[in-house]
Order: sequence, then structure tokens, then C-alpha cells
Amino acid sequence: MQLTNNLIRPERVNKYDQAAGGLRGYWYPVARSNSINGKAVAVQVLDEKIALIRDAGKVFALRDRCPHRGVPLSLGRKEFPGTWACPYHGWVFDLKTGVLKAALTDGPDSPVCGKARVKSYPTEERLGYVWVYVGDGTPPPIEDDIPEELRDPKAIRLDRLTMQKGNWRYACENAFDEGHFKYLHRYGVLFSAFSKFPAWSTISVINEEGGWITREVDSVAYEDTYGDLGPWPQKKSSKPTGGSFRVSMRLPGIMRNHHVGKERTNYSWYVPVGKDAYLYLQIYTTNATGWKKFKFWLYFWTYLRWVHFVQFNRQDLDMVELLPETPPSRLYRPDVAIIAWRKLCETARQFGRPVAEEVKEYSAEETS
Ligand code: FES
Ligand code: FE2
Repeated sequence: MQLTNNLIRPERVNKYDQAAGGLRGYWYPVARSNSINGKAVAVQVLDEKIALIRDAGKVFALRDRCPHRGVPLSLGRKEFPGTWACPYHGWVFDLKTGVLKAALTDGPDSPVCGKARVKSYPTEERLGYVWVYVGDGTPPPIEDDIPEELRDPKAIRLDRLTMQKGNWRYACENAFDEGHFKYLHRYGVLFSAFSKFPAWSTISVINEEGGWITREVDSVAYEDTYGDLGPWPQKKSSKPTGGSFRVSMRLPGIMRNHHVGKERTNYSWYVPVGKDAYLYLQIYTTNATGWKKFKFWLYFWTYLRWVHFVQFNRQDLDMVELLPETPPSRLYRPDVAIIAWRKLCETARQFGRPVAEEVKEYSAEETS
């Protein structure tokens, strides 16, 4: 049997590698709305350092580097409404356009006014977060980058926002990876303690509306015999089979996990800070009012948050942090999901290809 290492075509790897620092041309959630008040807040997204500043109720975003000598503008202050002053020599920038309105220490007739400019970013506030568009040209409507289900005014959202080490692409691969769920999470977490885990399964990936690709389980085995090695799991489990989950991904790095048969879904955003870190936004959502809404809130704060978002997902984060930047890797059949995600990335706005042309249906054949 010939062993091969080139299940991923070189040109595919190149595009995927180009995306290591993040996909340009999308709206990204970068901070909680209520964390941007009187002071500027420094954030980083796609390797771009940005100062978020609230003025007259609206959040503005400027590149966090003064064009004069490079000092972070996030350390500055507001001298006049609608503007922001650099802390070093008092250059004053228009918050909307980034154009230099005054150089206070050079007098009102400073000739540099109107000639210098700091980059300003389009911003919006939705779902309680500040979103920044990182890309060139006119941004698409922000609604294009927020799944419709989450924009439903009846949706309750409970979340957790943390900074994590590792590459955002591998965090997405992990989110869509079928294989590890059945092994990594089998051991050491409460979320998995009360249910029987499959030993193996076969899957395929399909396209769905809204730019999603979805993992579907075609067959599943809870125990099996592995040739000379014998049966696995070695101890037969009398636990009930766990709930089933329908996992989907869409650009620019959003995971949707629908808990089948339950009225809840959890989402994750993996927002690239740079190559080696990402902002991890985890959201649980359901549609409920009154008592049901309170019950969901209580379930989140007493169980789901700790047992799923903190402990269970910690196992994922630890693995993502360990993944080296060394593609191509030797893949196996369940990695059909990873291949589909990588192909989806090739259809990102920055590569200018229509999704329909590129992402077709994948079966496990691709990795056999
Ligand atoms: Fe900003 Fe001089 S460095 S005004
Ligand atoms: Fe996982």
C-alpha cells in the first residue's frame, strides 16, 4: 500500500496559508459594547491594532498608531467633540474620517492639518458587541456576517468572551472536526460523563442556506472489534447514547452547533487577532420568554457555561494551542470535514470566488 502525504493539493494549502492571519473583507465582533465608555480601548484584529472610542453614543475605530511618531492613539484623550487627540504632541483627528483637524502644539495654522490622516474603520454595534469591518473598499451590510437566527429579536443570547492562544483556522478545524469528539472528549469532562460515546462514525458534509457547510452523520457504531487488538471500548457501557449535535461552519470562522431535539444552539466566533491568537466568542441561544427564559438563564449560569463552555471546550482549546503550522498533514476519513472547511476558506471574499462554484458536497471518499 502506498502512503501518501498529499491529500491536500498544494494550491489549496497556499490559499489556506494566506489566510493564517485572518480573512479580510468581513465584519468581526471585537469587544462588548458596554466595555467601550469614556476611555479608548485597544484591540487587535487581523494583526491590525485598533483604538475603539465612543463619542456621542457611537463607537468609532481608528488605527492605534499616530501617523506623527507612532504612539498608540488609544492612550490619548478627547479635547473636542467628534475628535480624538494623540497623547504625545496633541495631534487631533476626526473620529469619522481619521483626517488631522489640528496639531495643537503647532498652532491653529499648522500646515500639516488636512494632509495627515489615520486609518478609520467602519464600525457597528449588534447583539451587544462592537463589530469592525476589516477589509478594503465599501463594506457589505453587517447583516451579511451575522447569522439570521441570532438576529431574531426574540433570541436570548448568553455568552463568554475570552482570548485564546493558537491559530483561528485550527480552532475552526477543531470545531468542525468529527473525529476528536469521540475520543478527546470521552475522557475527563463532566459533559461526557453520563452518556455513551460512539467509537466511530461515517460522515459527509453538505451545503446549507446562509453560507453554512454542515456535517452529517451517515452511520455510527458504539462498539467494535479492531482486528487483533480486540474490542473497543473495552468496557461495555450501559449509559444512554448522548444527544446528537448538528455542527455547521461558515465564513469568516463561525461555528453553529444545534442540539438536535432541544431548543438550543450554541455558536462560536473565532476572531483572528493575528497568527497566534484569537478572540473566542461563545454564545448559547434559544427563543423563549417569561419563565422559560429564566429557566434557560439559570441552566446556562449553573451548568452549561461551566460544564460546556469552560471545562469541555478547554479540551478543544488545549489541542488547538498544540497544533503546529505544518500542513499538509496526513489526513484520515473523518477529516472530510476539515477538507470541506479548508475549501470553504478558499471561497472567502478576499479570494473573490463565488461559494456555489467551489463548495460542493463532500463524502469520505475524499480522504480514503
Ligand atoms: Fe502623535 Fe506626536 S506621536 S502627536
Ligand atoms: Fe471538541
